[in-house]
Amino acid sequence: MITRKNGVLWKDMHGLPIHAHGGWILAHNGYYYWYGEDRRENFYVSCYRSRDLSDWEFCNHILTTESEMEPYRVRTKMQLKRDDGGKINLERPKVLYNEKTGKFVLWAHFENGADYREAAVAIASCRTPDGDFTYHGHFNPYGYMSRDCTLFKDDDGTAYFISASRDNADMHMYRLSDDYMNVDALIHRLWQGEYREAPAVTKIHGRYYMLSSFCTGWAPNQGKYAYADSMEGKWSSLMEIGDETTYMSQPAFILQKDGRILYFGDRWGGNGEKYFESGYVVYPLIEKDGRLSMQFTEEISL
Ligand code: GAL
Repeated sequence: MITRKNGVLWKDMHGLPIHAHGGWILAHNGYYYWYGEDRRENFYVSCYRSRDLSDWEFCNHILTTESEMEPYRVRTKMQLKRDDGGKINLERPKVLYNEKTGKFVLWAHFENGADYREAAVAIASCRTPDGDFTYHGHFNPYGYMSRDCTLFKDDDGTAYFISASRDNADMHMYRLSDDYMNVDALIHRLWQGEYREAPAVTKIHGRYYMLSSFCTGWAPNQGKYAYADSMEGKWSSLMEIGDETTYMSQPAFILQKDGRILYFGDRWGGNGEKYFESGYVVYPLIEKDGRLSMQFTEEISL
């Protein structure tokens, strides 16, 4: 166990900052793989691993401006750099393992690096969790805008992509195709006009919960959550969780381990240079009688 201070940039086992912002943790074959945004140099997504969530070992810059590209089924735009050579933006990367193809499939929010008007989703895949991912380009699911996003894999292997659409006004939920390489159906257009961002889904005692933030850029705001008895069923209306800044954080993802429900969030440094000072928080979530609450703590033992 290691006790970490919430809200600061955490270090890996060699004392170097962990750059895995807007991230995601995937448990696979005895390791937890932590993926996230790494905006340094020519990197896009970096991956770290740990046996127990305490010590983190850097694995690889799994997506960079130089990643291999391979078009795949859907007509996607293959672009890992801007026309002027600058970087594009890949935000909130999430990775699932597909049992049928044996591939690790990554979905992320794509922008052109200049503004946020592209509102698309990018996909990439790899045979190993921390290898060099092959980039498959970006697209707008069914033509819709797609910004802040997450993935969720249900117990039967059915996977969902959830992303903010219509200039963030509505939260869309798509069921993925069996190989997780495309959307298969638009299932829901949730919370019309509520401007939710940073979605994160978890399943507790057979019930599904989705946390999200409001839409205020890098500044933290009031977290809310909703629940449903099935992903494709009716979702409740939004209820508040945490305080008016979600204890100075924005959701990244939710991980369950040893009976604990752990909310991972970003405490963003903001734009420009400050982005690189962005820290991490982990707050325990408590489920009681079908309702969720968030426990603020200055430190977290993992
Ligand atoms: C936030 C979003 C971040 C990033 C930021 C840019 O609302 O959650 O992922 O896109 O806006 O301002």
